[in-house]
Amino acid sequence: MGLPTNFRYDFIDKVLITPEQIERRVTQLGMEITEDYQDSEKLMLLGLLRGSVMFITDLMRRIHRPLTMDFMSVSSYSGSESSGFVRIDHDHKASIAGWDVILVDDIIDTGLTIHTVRKILLDRNPRSLRICALLDKPDRHKKNIHIDYCGFSIPDEFVVGYGLDIDEKGRNLPYIASVNLQKYRGLSS
Ligand code: IMP
Ligand code: MG
Repeated sequence: MGLPTNFRYDFIDKVLITPEQIERRVTQLGMEITEDYQDSEKLMLLGLLRGSVMFITDLMRRIHRPLTMDFMSVSSYSGSESSGFVRIDHDHKASIAGWDVILVDDIIDTGLTIHTVRKILLDRNPRSLRICALLDKPDRHKKNIHIDYCGFSIPDEFVVGYGLDIDEKGRNLPYIASVNLQKYRGLSS
């Protein structure tokens, strides 16, 4: 059965990253992580719900080391623009003390979310903590964020697909696509 090429949300503008490009890049990231953690017996992927789900499940299959996986869910306190004050809606279950943790997110926009979550996690004494993000919008950063494993840098456009959403829509697309925000607002009003 082929890809559902006949299915498209009406608000999609254009495909920015194809499933084949995603697969190649995720495989490379998995190889890098496999190499970097050769000496670690306590590797944990800690995903931020819900945007990182598709990415993390593909990535973990390409890391050839023993690992565990856990999730956190956080939200920004106010407004649509990230405020930097994050509320933990769902905390990870296992202790991260003494673990080599890779925090996995879908996209770094202003960087405020990951900056704050990183600080919270560092207080919990992991052995090491690195950041992995599928996408990065460097033009939007408000914080100086070091991304240890970055899939793709993209321009300042709103994107959906491969786990990313707009108001919970678009997560199931197998590619990353830009949203026509004017059209989206027209369709949803
Ligand atoms: P930050 O705190 O501004 O870096 O916010 C990052 C979060 O905002 C991501 O984890 C996403 O949930 C969301 N986000 C930012 N840009 C996009 C986008 O283009 N598409 C979908 N979600 C986005
Ligand atoms: Mg997110």
